[in-house]
Amino acid sequence: MRARITGTGSYAPERVVTNADIERMVATSDEWIRERTGIRERHVVADGQACSDLALVAAERALKAAGVSASELDLIVLATCTGDTPLPSTACLLQHRLGATRAAAFDLGAACCGFVYALGVADAYVRTGMRHVLVVGSEVMSAITDWTDRNTCVLFGDGAGAAVVSASGDDRGILSTHLHSDGSMCDLITVPGGGTRIPPSDQMVTDRLQYIKMKGNETFKVAVRTLEEVARETLAAHGVGVSDVDLYVPHQANVRIIKAVVDRLGLPLEKVVLNMDRYGNTSAASIPIALDEAVRDGRVRDGQLIMLGAFGAGLTWASALIRW
Ligand code: ACO
Repeated sequence: MRARITGTGSYAPERVVTNADIERMVATSDEWIRERTGIRERHVVADGQACSDLALVAAERALKAAGVSASELDLIVLATCTGDTPLPSTACLLQHRLGATRAAAFDLGAACCGFVYALGVADAYVRTGMRHVLVVGSEVMSAITDWTDRNTCVLFGDGAGAAVVSASGDDRGILSTHLHSDGSMCDLITVPGGGTRIPPSDQMVTDRLQYIKMKGNETFKVAVRTLEEVARETLAAHGVGVSDVDLYVPHQANVRIIKAVVDRLGLPLEKVVLNMDRYGNTSAASIPIALDEAVRDGRVRDGQLIMLGAFGAGLTWASALIRW
């Protein structure tokens, strides 16, 4: 029994914020942002639009592509660090709005690795008896972005991506997932306030602790190292080489990180899905949005070997190998 991705879907809010728009907010330039990150523009939610609103559209598109109805779902795993509310889980809000009456539902927090972690959870549950699991990555990063901090505000965007993972009798599907963490590097990317360590307060807001803080340069180096390591670990687990990979779908944080990784691996850039120029870093949504685009434009085809690779706050890093 294998777990197979039978449908994908994605959604980004209509509003687009370009680098030129950000030039009017902080001391930066379109040229700096494009050269240092590869980002040209990002989508940002309308007032009142929340994580579950984005997740709902992406999930409906994935269910339609899979030919699975919401009432057939056994489980919904929603990866996010920007849920609608601390309580209840955003996955439960999505479960209700989809009408997934039989499904268990929970949120998963692994920052930018959330989708690959959630895919690992879905794989385990399907191999042990579930028939259909909905995996979603949905983020409203603009809500935790400090729009006065040029070090971070140029990087992030909002969006959602989803995949239906179904039981399958044939050999195709998720071959394995490889999930890692190292909390000793927790201070590289953090939202310090708003939890139980520094609860919401006027002082917390004055100190702007509700926003993401990042040591970008250190994160960059760890990202390159861990993405390379986990890719090699994944390929070795199946006795396949880099040249066997048909398509690599990495987390879309920075084009220079991805180029450094594929250069070290010896993987040609033509085999890499890149879309951060139009979305920025959408955290847990980045890989499923990129995967959905590649599925819909025909770059992902039956029988191909697809590798996913992610890293993010925690720190966490992860990969998945899929025979499509
Ligand atoms: N515009 C102009 N200048 C800027 C900007 C900006 N937007 N941001 C920073 N700078 C300046 C800095 O102040 C610094 O100036 P200084 O030398 O005078 O001090 C200079 O540019 C270089 O800064 P670096 O941080 O060394 O720039 P770097 O080349 O590392 O690029 C970046 C910064 C883009 C943040 C990069 O480090 C990066 O992408 N890091 C990884 C980010 C990431 O992937 N995060 C993980 C996921 S997030 C999650 O899990 C939720």
